[in-house]
Parts: sequence; C-alpha cells; structure tokens
Amino acid sequence: MAGTFVIDGLGGKKTLRGSLPVFGEKNTALPLMAAAALISGESRFTNVPDIADVASMKSLLEGMGAYVTHSGSELSVRAEGLSGTVFESALAKSMRASIVLTGPILARMGSVTFPMPGGDVIGARPIDIFLDGFRKLGADVLETGDTYQLSAANGLQGGDIFFRVVSVTATETFMMAAALAKGPVTLRNAAMEPGVVATADFLKACGAKIRGAGTPTIEIEPSSLQPASEPFKIIPDRIEAATFLALGALAAEELVITGAEPSHMTAVLDAFSRMQVPISIDGNAITVRSPEKLGAIAIRTHEYPGFPTDAQPPVMVALTQAEGESSVIESIFDGRLMYTAELVGMGADIEIMSPHRAIVKGPTPLKARDIVGPDIRAGLAFVLAAAIADGTSHVGNAHLVDRGYQRIEERLKPLGLDISRKV
Ligand code: UD1
Repeated sequence: MAGTFVIDGLGGKKTLRGSLPVFGEKNTALPLMAAAALISGESRFTNVPDIADVASMKSLLEGMGAYVTHSGSELSVRAEGLSGTVFESALAKSMRASIVLTGPILARMGSVTFPMPGGDVIGARPIDIFLDGFRKLGADVLETGDTYQLSAANGLQGGDIFFRVVSVTATETFMMAAALAKGPVTLRNAAMEPGVVATADFLKACGAKIRGAGTPTIEIEPSSLQPASEPFKIIPDRIEAATFLALGALAAEELVITGAEPSHMTAVLDAFSRMQVPISIDGNAITVRSPEKLGAIAIRTHEYPGFPTDAQPPVMVALTQAEGESSVIESIFDGRLMYTAELVGMGADIEIMSPHRAIVKGPTPLKARDIVGPDIRAGLAFVLAAAIADGTSHVGNAHLVDRGYQRIEERLKPLGLDISRKV
C-alpha cells in the first residue's frame, strides 16, 4: 500500500484507551517459512502476520517451485515440488531475512545462488559468518560480484561451527541446514532468541533431532524430516508488544496489550518498570498506563535475553519524555542511532556521543514535523513520536513499516489516535 501516515498528534494528552492485540512475530514467521522448504510435503502455520515481508518470502518460495497459500493468519507451504535454487534478486535484496532460505535450499537441493541480501539500513550487515559456516559443512563458495553460489553436490557434512558474533539469522539458518546434514553439527555462541527456540521446536515437530536451542550451544543429529502432524503457531511478536508498551507509557489512559508473551520480554518490562511505568500482567495481557512522570534510565541493547536492539527506537521516543538524563548504548548495529536526528528536529534533546551511544535529556515536548522513516523499527518509532507531538505530522515510507507491522493505522485508530494513510 505504501504512502505516508498522516497523524494529528495528541500534544501531550494521555487519552489513548482500548485494547491492542499483538500479532505473530515477523522474525519467527520468516525463518519458519524458510524451514518449510526442507520438507517434502505440507507445513502449516497459524498466527502468521499479514505483512509485506511474509509476502516477499512467499514469493521467494514460489519462485523456487513451492506452493504457498496465506489466508487470514493461516499459511501453508507445500514444498514437495521444490525445484529452483536461484533467488529472485529484487525480492532477496528487499529483506535481510532472505538469507535464512540459503540453508534449507542448499541442504535440500545441493546448491543455492543468491545476491547479497538487503533490508534495513541500520549499519553494516555482512554475511561472512554464513559463508564460513557453509564452508565448515563442506560447501564450495563462489563469489561473483554481489552474487554467491554455494554448492554441496554430495550433501552437507557434519561439523563444528563457532560463530564469531552472535547472529539470530545465522543460528536459525545453520540449525535448518544441519537438520539435513550427513553428520552431527554443533553450533557454538548461538543466539538464544525465542525465534531460535521456535524454529527448533518446529523442526523437532518434523522429526529433527536438536538439543540446546535457547542456550549458546546447539547440537543437531542427522535425521529425516517429514511434515509436522499439527499446524505450528507463530509466537507473539515481542518487538511489536514493546512498541505498544512505549506508546502506552507515553500516551495511554489505559492500554491493554493482548496476545503477548511477557516471558519473552523480561528486559523490556524491566526497562519500563525502571521508567516508573505502571504495568500489570495477566497471562498474555499487559495493561499499561502513562504515569504523570516518566523516569530517565540507562539501556544497553544486547543479544537475548538482553534488551532487544529492535525495541531501541520506540523506547528512545519514550525517553525523550522522561525526567532527567537517559543513556542509550546500541551495541549490536553501528548505524542504528542515526534516525534520532529526526526526533531532534521535532524538539527532542538527544546527543550522539558515538555511533553506539546517545544521551537523552527530557522531558521536551515534541512538535509535529514531516519525517521519513529509514527502516521498519525507526519508522514505527516516528509514528509514536508523531502521535505525542503537537500538530499534524506526515511520516513517509509507510511501506517500510508495512514490512513488519500489519496495517498499523487501522489498529491504532480505535484507541483514539487520529491517524490515516495518504497513498
Ligand atoms: C536479526 C533480526 C533483526 C534484529 C537482529 C538483532 C531477523 C529476520 N532479523 O537480524 O530484526 O535487529 O537480529 O537482534 O531475525 N554479523 C556479522 N556477520 C554476519 C552476520 C552478522 O558480522 O555474517 C553481525 C551484524 O553486523 C550485527 C550482528 O552480527 O552486528 C548481529 O546481527 P544478526 O543477529 O545477524 O542480525 P540479523 O540476524 O540479520
């Protein structure tokens, strides 16, 4: 749909009220769709968000001979007829997560050809640990310009892979590839995100032998895979829930966030509690109210279970309204504080001390402005900033927000926010 969000801000009023459901996690739906390419048969998923990245992954799979249907929140992948090994270039470049499909295609088909993946502009996002890992499992890597061709004509071998950096998508990619390898595979310094555990759970439901997902060492034994007997439910999107919490902390009389998984959100809940935000949890529902004063805090993004880098932009917006000096250390990506210049243009007091550190002083009221989101997460953070600002803002690049969040304007409007989309 693309376009621009037009938001008439609340100008400091805290009047949002209602309930806001959290949908399935983008960063789990995408690797699980890729995992389905390992299986000769049908894989079914529920709680799948209707977002642009899911549509891109669907097209990528279809381009390689899979048959994919997505209706409501249910998605089915039938990969028995998988035949292609070459990624459609524009699609693959449109999202970083296309890289997770390299593991299943190489493991099942014996070769894969793909371009350097694109996606959010949040700093350097190399693929060296993917290439090193595939070599460890016996694949040949041919690099021509920005195209990579991997081959393992006799199948992938077992091996021991140590990840130089903790990477979510690399951990998922190699867990998937290893499920069809000929020998045991051990992954060390693995990511521990809930999406990694969900990917392992899905593979195990298909017959894979995996131990240790959710810890730094994951062991995968050779096995044969078949379709899971039950549809697999995508876990709730903890980043979406964190963003809604930030909105509630800023502007809600009372906001009930439903369908969340608070046990995946310990670091985020801890941060909001340190900001003195009244929060109550009842099963999968999180109720949040905006306090009279928000407290300044220090956060440092970190691999799970630390504070998620994807929740840094919305929490940054909340910190512009906190009393005193907050410190934000972005430890994962080196370009992920640049968007704050736009918040400064709206009246925020944010000083960038280094590519990895910002100091925020508040509270400073925000004024409406026309801004353009640079990526999925900062794009939605700008929607939050516009929601609390005084006046009417236009937030461009709505298509980037659509990559990760399902029709956000239709979901925020019933809470009492004046938001629409100009196409
Ligand atoms: C995933 C998430 C993304 C999130 C990020 C960190 C998906 C689809 N995306 O991205 O939303 O922001 O985790 O939680 O799940 N790195 C290398 N070499 C590599 C690969 C990564 O140096 O070959 C570095 C990156 O530059 C970065 C760090 O590793 O500094 C972590 O990145 P990684 O966890 O791989 O991020 P993604 O898996 O791409």
